[in-house]
Amino acid sequence: MEVLCARPALTGLAYMAFQSSDPKRALGYYRDVHGWDDQFLTTDKKGTLTVALIRINDRQWVELRPESAPKTDRLLGFGLEVADAEAMRLHLQSRNWPVPDQTTISATGNLSFVVADPDGHAVEFVQLQPKGWPRRTTRGGDGASRALSTCLMHVGFSVFALDKALTFYRDLLGCQEFWRGSQNDRTLAWVHLKLPEDHNYVELMLYDEPPSLEWLGVLNHFGLEVASIPETMEEASRRIGTRPYPREVAYSIGKCRHRLANVSDPDGTRAEFMERSTFDGAVTPSSTLPAPSRPRGCNKRRF
Ligand SMILES: [Fe+2]
Repeated sequence: MEVLCARPALTGLAYMAFQSSDPKRALGYYRDVHGWDDQFLTTDKKGTLTVALIRINDRQWVELRPESAPKTDRLLGFGLEVADAEAMRLHLQSRNWPVPDQTTISATGNLSFVVADPDGHAVEFVQLQPKGWPRRTTRGGDGASRALSTCLMHVGFSVFALDKALTFYRDLLGCQEFWRGSQNDRTLAWVHLKLPEDHNYVELMLYDEPPSLEWLGVLNHFGLEVASIPETMEEASRRIGTRPYPREVAYSIGKCRHRLANVSDPDGTRAEFMERSTFDGAVTPSSTLPAPSRPRGCNKRRF
């Protein structure tokens, strides 16, 4: 008889990982602009950087790795925090989702395993360990005092087929959809799903035509909670100043009615500052428009 294993608690967003054409410059950007100066670097025997972990708080971080190839998607994957990694592995396995044979201690010192989501994104389920990153940091507290944000509020990533993404994130992981929005008033652009045991969320970024590399840098992004967008924008602009980081800080009110401000790392990877509440307390109704339709003959993601 088929035995289904119960889903363990999915308790948070752990990290988002990107590749970088110039990690040293990118680390400077995260230190100078975001104010995250607790950066754990790993090097090979020749002293070349292999991975950098940038601490947001004692449960969340940004990961950077040297690029494996130029002019490619910058997103490497993201991590979701679970109360019990092995229980999550068994849960997914019992529902026929491909999983590795076992959970292991990862390079960050946490118990974890990695699967591919329907779009091929690497999703790591992380059970934080007392001696794993970022808990083992000696700095303590919720990040540096200069940090513009100490909360990874959402991870946003490209999604080709909404129904397949919902099968994974909603049906298997138990995420709860709470908002849909449209950019062009014809088709959906964004679907938001709250983690089942946390108030942070994943943002499915829908597209129709295969996105350019620049557009992938917009789609694949992370959201950071701040108390005040005007104050954050002013401080971020002051910090960028004459430094050679790309793009000005753009401030707007999104279709979701939240105040937003975007900054980008030297490779164009977007960080989106965002207030937790809508600017006026009202809620934009969820869109009922359809997901983007596929061009004729286009039945798989193409980048
Ligand atoms: Fe976003």
